[in-house]
Amino acid sequence: MAEMVRKSSVGEIVNHWILAGSCILLIITGFAFLFHLDSVGAVFGGYEAMKTVHNWVGVIFGLSLLVSTIHYLKDALEYDADDAQWFKVAGGYLSHKVKVPPMGKYNPGQKLYYLAILVGGIAIFLSGLGIWLMKDNSTIMLLSHLVHNVAFCIFVIAVPVHIYLGTLANPGTFQIMINGLMPLSDAKKKHPKWMKAVGKM
Ligand code: HEM
Repeated sequence: MAEMVRKSSVGEIVNHWILAGSCILLIITGFAFLFHLDSVGAVFGGYEAMKTVHNWVGVIFGLSLLVSTIHYLKDALEYDADDAQWFKVAGGYLSHKVKVPPMGKYNPGQKLYYLAILVGGIAIFLSGLGIWLMKDNSTIMLLSHLVHNVAFCIFVIAVPVHIYLGTLANPGTFQIMINGLMPLSDAKKKHPKWMKAVGKM
């Protein structure tokens, strides 16, 4: 069997599932509110019950987002010349002829994805609390609805792209979400700077 390296710890795997599960449930129920889909509401025991589910799953999402900062924030804030070059060749996604520069543990696309989820997540969480708990303040309600809807757009675009990149577009990547492991040979090819940093190269 191919030698493997650990890319995600057990804590990262568990938190990623909580983040992903809560986020997808929020997107589904959010869509149901937007288009008044009573049929989706019925799955949760009625439209009002779906609101309660949405609010409390939002709390779980917020806590999971907080935990995610321990896992990804430091990496997501560090960029070097190879990362800049990665943008110039669009990560090699548009052409197989370009030379993709050596990468660390995460490529800049993944780092920016994390920052989008973090910033969008904080905005959607705080505005959600505004809508939930500050019904008497019309200014906060108006602002919260605006922010909640704009942030929702970020998630509706970014999350499906992320799921595609983590599954169909890059076969083998999905197992990182299951057991945290990737083949050492792939890690050396795709993340040589990370492998050097942990003494595997
Ligand atoms: C259920 C569908 C999802 C799948 C199949 C999926 C797949 C993956 C995979 C395979 C990785 C590891 C990538 C690597 O280390 O190279 C990953 C990382 C990550 N995922 Fe997901 N994910 C899903 C949903 C989500 C959702 C909904 C969010 C955020 C709300 C999210 C946030 C992240 C973050 C922040 C990372 C680490 C940085 C990155 O790789 O971009 N994921 N995901």
